[in-house]
Amino acid sequence: MPFKTPSKTSEYIRSLLPEELDKDVLGIMKYAEEKVIPILLPETAAFLRQTVMLKRPEKILEIGTAIGYSGMIMLKNSAAQLYTVEKDEDSATVAKKFFTDAGFKHRVTVFIGDACEIVPLIKGSYDFIFLDGPKTRYPVFYPYLKDLLSGGGILLADNVLFNGMVDGSGEYQRKKATIVEGLDKYLKTVFDDKDMISSILPVGDGLCMSIKKG
Ligand SMILES: C[S@@+](CC[C@H](N)C(=O)[O-])C[C@H]1O[C@@H](n2cnc3c(N)ncnc32)[C@H](O)[C@@H]1O
Repeated sequence: MPFKTPSKTSEYIRSLLPEELDKDVLGIMKYAEEKVIPILLPETAAFLRQTVMLKRPEKILEIGTAIGYSGMIMLKNSAAQLYTVEKDEDSATVAKKFFTDAGFKHRVTVFIGDACEIVPLIKGSYDFIFLDGPKTRYPVFYPYLKDLLSGGGILLADNVLFNGMVDGSGEYQRKKATIVEGLDKYLKTVFDDKDMISSILPVGDGLCMSIKKG
């Protein structure tokens, strides 16, 4: 029988990372489940964790904090400083509390506001960027994120296949056209960019990993 990726969130994470399932990660997962807040798919969480373990970043930028699930995974698997942007004040407040309770207060800066306004103002250099904010804006953020990424740095963008609507493997919904167009434009832009080496990974809802040359 062919191998099938388990897809039930908690079961998959439990089978994959039993010893690391600590109270901080579980606390966020439980909160997300209760309040129906979207967080990373389990297989995406596992891949993010692996990538951070391999890369060992020192400075991470994230667009789309939500309640801090992906942030917590990145913090727990690196020694990096995390800078993360979230528009929704309530979510950002919950994320901050989870980070503080886990002892990460001094390793995290949460920027509360619209990433469309915040991203152009961000300075410095980051060796890992996780893009998981508004999908229609991915191509708008891209030139800024490219500039912020150090040579050899990784830009990881989630949901790039968007239920198969981007590569045509899933059923197209007209009401999602703007998102699909945005993601399609993002993928074309990164693959056309000769300064980047990019791959699309069929993990979760599709990840695009781009590594900046140099
Ligand atoms: C898929 S969720 C992020 C999930 C999170 N990375 C995790 O796995 O824990 C996307 C988040 O982006 C935020 N968002 C949407 N539009 C935004 C914008 N213009 N600026 C900043 N954040 C935004 C949403 O409020 C939401 O919390």
